[in-house]
Order: sequence, then C-alpha cells, then structure tokens
Amino acid sequence: MVIPDSFLQELSERNDIVDVVGGYVHLTKKSGANLFGLCPFHSEKTPSFSVNPDMQIYHCFGCGKGGDVINFIREMENLSFPEAVEFLARRAGMEMPTDGDGDLRQRRDRLLALNRAAARFFHQALIQPAGQPGRDYVARRGISPALVRRFGLGYAADNFYSLTNAMRAQGYTEAELVEAGLANANRGGKGVHDIFRDRLMFPVIDVRGNVIAFSGRILGDGEPKYLNTRDTPVFSKSRNLFGLNLAKKSKSGYLLLAEGNIDVVSLHQAGFDSAVASLGTSLTPEQARLMSRYTGEIILAYDNDAAGQKASARAIGILEKLDLKVRVLRLEGAKDPDEFIQARGSGAFRQLLEGSANHVEFLLDGVARGRDLSVDAEKAAYLREAAGIVAALPSPVEREVYAMRLSEQTGVAKSVVLEEVRRLRRRQAKGAETRRDREAVRSLRETVQPRDRALRYENERSAIAEEGVVRLMYLDPSLFGGAGRSIEPEEFSSPLLGRFYGVLRDKAAAGGSLSMASLSGSFTPEEIDHLTGILLKPEVLANGRQALADYIAVIREERQLQNAADDLLAFAAQKRKQLQAQR
Ligand code: CTP
Ligand code: MN
Repeated sequence: MVIPDSFLQELSERNDIVDVVGGYVHLTKKSGANLFGLCPFHSEKTPSFSVNPDMQIYHCFGCGKGGDVINFIREMENLSFPEAVEFLARRAGMEMPTDGDGDLRQRRDRLLALNRAAARFFHQALIQPAGQPGRDYVARRGISPALVRRFGLGYAADNFYSLTNAMRAQGYTEAELVEAGLANANRGGKGVHDIFRDRLMFPVIDVRGNVIAFSGRILGDGEPKYLNTRDTPVFSKSRNLFGLNLAKKSKSGYLLLAEGNIDVVSLHQAGFDSAVASLGTSLTPEQARLMSRYTGEIILAYDNDAAGQKASARAIGILEKLDLKVRVLRLEGAKDPDEFIQARGSGAFRQLLEGSANHVEFLLDGVARGRDLSVDAEKAAYLREAAGIVAALPSPVEREVYAMRLSEQTGVAKSVVLEEVRRLRRRQAKGAETRRDREAVRSLRETVQPRDRALRYENERSAIAEEGVVRLMYLDPSLFGGAGRSIEPEEFSSPLLGRFYGVLRDKAAAGGSLSMASLSGSFTPEEIDHLTGILLKPEVLANGRQALADYIAVIREERQLQNAADDLLAFAAQKRKQLQAQR
C-alpha cells in the first residue's frame, strides 16, 4: 500500500501547513521566518511551538515533536499514516490515488468489514454449543450475558482453520486475512491458519464504532495471557484503548484506566461505565492525548502489585504533562478491580472511588509501604522522606493540610512536622539554585544534543557543522559540488547526520522532492522530530557557499584530530602490551 511521492507532494502543496496548523493552534509572528504558538502536544505557558511556512514543517523546541503537515494531522487527529493522507486529501478535495490492489480507501474498508465479520463469527461461536469452553470461562469470571452482548465478546475455537474457513466462505482472501492480523501463512508457504485459538475474544472498537482489532484472553493459565492483533493498516496498538467506544459516552466525568480487559468488563458490569484499558502496552502519550479529548480526569485502577505500582507512576508522569487531573485507586486486599468488586461489591468500589487518593497520597503511600510505623526508627525515616514530598508541594495550603495528616498518622506534633517541612523546603530551594546554574550550562549543550538519548552526538563541534551541511542540502542542493564544497556521508562523525545527508543528497540528485513526507519512509518518527529541529535552526543563506565550505573544513579538522587521538591511543595500547610481554 504505497502512496506515490508525487501524490504526497501535491497533497502537501494543497494543504498549507500554516492553514492546517492554524485550525488548531493560534499562531503569531514574532520575528524571522517562523510563526509561534502554544504547543498542542504538551502543556506550556510560553510558546515554543514553531511553524516554518517556507519549509512547510513544524517543530516544538519544548517537547521535540516535529514534522510536516501529514505528521501534524497524524498526531493531532490520532490517525495512521494512510488515514492522515486521506484526511488531508478530503480537505483539499483530492481523489485518493489507486494502486494495483485498488483504491486505498476501499482496501481499508474491506479490512474493517472483515474485522466486523470476524467479530460476528466469534460472537456466534460463543453462543453455539461448540462454544462451551468459552461460556464456561465467562460464567466462571461472573460476566453476565448482557455484558457479553454489550462488549460483543466471542470465542475462538481450539482449531487452526475455523475463522479462516468461515471468512473465505464469505469471500475474503487469504491475503486480506493476513493483512488484518487474523491469520498467518502456513510454514511451507501454502495456505494460512488462524492466529486466535481457544481464547475469549474481545473486539477492539474505535471511537467511530469500527472493529479494528481483537484481544484474545487465554482460558486457563499460560502465555501470553492476552494476545492482541499486531499493528495493521487499520490498527495501531499505541493509539487506541480497549473500551473507549463505550466509556466515551459515560456521564461520570472521569475515565478509569485498568490493566486487563476482564477488569474493564467487570467494572462496566458493576456500573462503572467509564473503564478502559491500554492494549498490552504501558500507557503511551498518544493514548493519554486520546483520553484527554473525552475527560479532564483520569483515575488509575491498575493491578495492586509491584508492576502495577510502577505502571501507575509512569502513567502519572505522562498524564500530568497534558494537564489531566490524576487520582490513583488503592485496591486494598485485592489484586485488581475485578477481584475487588467480586469480593466486596460495587458499593465498596464506589466508596473507594470517592475517597481515592490524589497523586500526593499515592506518593506518600509509596514511602510508607514496607515500613512498620510502630517502630520508632522506621517512623522517623518515614517522616523525613514524607516531609520531603510535602515540602515540594507548591501550595502552602496543601503543605499545611498534608503536614497535619502526617502529624495525625505518626503522632508527632504538627508544629514539629511543619518545622521539618520548612527546613527541607529551604534546602530544596538552595539545591534548586545550584541546580539552575548547572542547568544553564547543560541546556546550552542540550540545544546541540538530540533529545532522544539513543541519537546522542560523540563530537559536538563536528556535529554542529554536520547539521549545517544537512540544513544547506535541504535548503539549497545547488550549493554543493564546487571546490571544497563536496563531502561524503562517511566523513560525518554522527552516523545519523550522515544518513540524513546521504538520503537528502540521493533524493536531490535523482531530482526527487525533499519534502518531509518523501523522507518519512527512510527515518523513524524520532529521527524526523530531530531533523525538523535541525532544519529550523537559523541558517544564513546569503553566503551559503562560504558557510558550506566552512562547515566542511570543521568536519575534516575534527576528523583529523580524532584520528590523531585514535593513533595515540593505539600507540599507547601497543606500548603497554610490549611492556607486559617484557615482564
Ligand atoms: N494486557 C495485554 N493486552 C491486553 C490487556 C492487557 O497484553 N489487551 C497485559 C497487560 O499489560 C498486563 C496484563 O496483560 O500485563 C494484565 O493482565 P491482568 O490485569 O492480570 O488481566 P486479567 O484478565 O484481569 O487477569 P486476571 O484474570 O488474572 O485478573
Ligand atoms: Mn486483572
């Protein structure tokens, strides 16, 4: 399903990035070529999100996200690449291209129809006599027939060809079954077989009501507990949540985030109709953004074990960036929401929700965990650590309230607790000062280094020059080729920058477009984020030839220095060996 470059090119030309972004972000002109606004991808008070109309790209200097108009719509509208292309084509009144396999749109529609047919098939299989193992499991987990219907639960038989045969009879091809993530090719290459076997099937339905994937839960013990559809043209695991199709209609005012699909069904059954689960990944920023469209408050109801605690802490970080209010449930005496409800009923769960801890309490609980507060030494250690958490709270009222709580909990006088909080606060403030100095130095370097640690530069001076070469190649390939103005990708100190340069150079030489869309096949999204940052750094094109020659000179000088240093090290190593040998 390849969309031709020429189509993407025209698509970008007919969807000016300033117009498209302007529909979501209020952009203002400050100075220079770029427009600025408040970043829609992270919460900020001063604009660091910039759009460059000439290059038709955006980049946020705050969170590091960047790309072209197609990337922007993908992120904003939570769409797959082909979906984003379709969205923009419709916006510009363009016909989607067709390839050998027919219209893109039609093919996606076929996959969605296949998924829907499969969901119906699994659901029927659960109801019919042969579905006994599935029905037994559903009964054992206390899921009522009404909930089976509401979620469209199904059963995949313990057989390699049930679904495949049924879908072929309905006119779907083997290729379509594989593309939908429902079947795999047989070894030896002939025919296909079912991926989901002997599992309770949960259709994953998106907010538009399409069946886009399945989670299959094993009926007994075994691994994996949940098998999820791999990413397909209609499904991206990291951008969807199980149950959101139902939860988005809830009037509760919050979303409940659980771990297992069973927990979600069980919560809905108990009347908590805003429960969702992520699909076997820890919460992703995309999923958080998706939730933020439907609510301002998330209540975490992860499993009550170490993994669940860790997942909660991570999710808190992601959710707070989006200015979402977060609370954490304390499931005492039960391993998960399902077990809690089965054991203590929905009334008890409701109480838990009403008293559910905000994230300060969650942190304080974490500090108390595993400590015996009746032992003086442990109590003192708890108090010191807890006072540190309270001291870091920005609001004096909050500090007062939690100091009071600590005092009641430990029996230490409130004035003493407050004094400790004040002392720690003074110390934190002093620490913050020296930290700010260090930060200043670091942030200077950070503007050079890629945000993604995996992409870090070895040689910063050379990397700055290499970035310059990449920028010039993007802006004006005709600068290259004169005396002192050609360089090979292998001469770069940073492999990533060398790759940027090499791909851009090849595309330019082939007369192809250098649009971001035409590059997205060659680089990961993180690499594209970084590339847009490089392109948006100021570059003076007036004397581009000289600038290019200077950049190349720096790269070669650094390389020589590096080589000389390497030689010296090799020489030293050899000497050491000789000495050892003599001894
Ligand atoms: N998980 C997954 N795919 C899903 C849902 C959950 O891979 N669609 C993973 C989660 O990441 C987590 C685990 O499965 O690691 C959640 O399992 P759990 O909450 O134990 O599932 P339940 O069905 O509730 O299991 P149990 O019957 O033991 O409560
Ligand atoms: Mn569970």
